[in-house]
Amino acid sequence: MVLRKGPQHIAIIMDGNGRWAQAKGLPRIAGHREGANSLREVLKVCAEIGVKYLTVYAFSTENWLRPQEEVDFLMDLLAQSIEDEMPELMHNQVKLNFLGRLSSFSSELQQRMKQAMEKTKMNNRITLNVMVNYGGRAELVDAFRSILADTPHLNAGNIDEPTISNYLYTKGLPDPDLLIRTANEMRVSNFLLWQIAYAEIYVTPTFWPDFRREQLLAAVEDYKKRTRKYGMTKEQVNAG
Ligand code: IPE
Ligand code: IPE
Ligand code: MG
Repeated sequence: MVLRKGPQHIAIIMDGNGRWAQAKGLPRIAGHREGANSLREVLKVCAEIGVKYLTVYAFSTENWLRPQEEVDFLMDLLAQSIEDEMPELMHNQVKLNFLGRLSSFSSELQQRMKQAMEKTKMNNRITLNVMVNYGGRAELVDAFRSILADTPHLNAGNIDEPTISNYLYTKGLPDPDLLIRTANEMRVSNFLLWQIAYAEIYVTPTFWPDFRREQLLAAVEDYKKRTRKYGMTKEQVNAG
């Protein structure tokens, strides 16, 4: 039996913070705070096992619809986490990217995100993409607008799959091999619509604040047992 190699790129829909908190009789924001600890641990384990890219859904284009105080808390948590985690990210050689429609954030928060990206851009052990004010549909709209802006005499021949990939926020990154969603929801909620075309999907009932080393390793083990066929037959795939 062939021992499959682990994923190079893991994407995670970090869901269930609110339910985790509510189950403990705590306010929803307590779940977001604990969720930040999960991210720190999952990033560390990913680096240890040789994952090169970790892409996490932190705030969607739809999450602005939440109660204002929850949105405010998430913005503060984001700003605070950037500051608190910077020494560790530098120490562990993590390249940090914030991807999404960043212009909707306060200028102070945008500044912090920019500085963090600038400071970590030469780090090369693992890349952490934090998707904020991110929507897969918004990303495609932005891509088509940029293609049009860059290509004055656009014709049908200018549009192909590599071109579209190159205009996404994730340009230059390989597509995710494994997409994990916590808290048992069987949907993609507007995450990486283009990039997950052939990702292996893993859904777990565990709420994000409880998703740590053991749960990540279980997801990776499950991934290693999958057969990725890309439309071919199993026999073709086995023939290599
Ligand atoms: C995910 O947890 C975090 C964000 C979407 C920001 P939720 O806050 O969605 O938690 P549930 O789904 O309400 O439990
Ligand atoms: C998706 O979770 C967004 C993030 C994890 C940031 P949601 O909790 O917002 O998704 P829905 O509303 O359950 O689809
Ligand atoms: Mg949710």
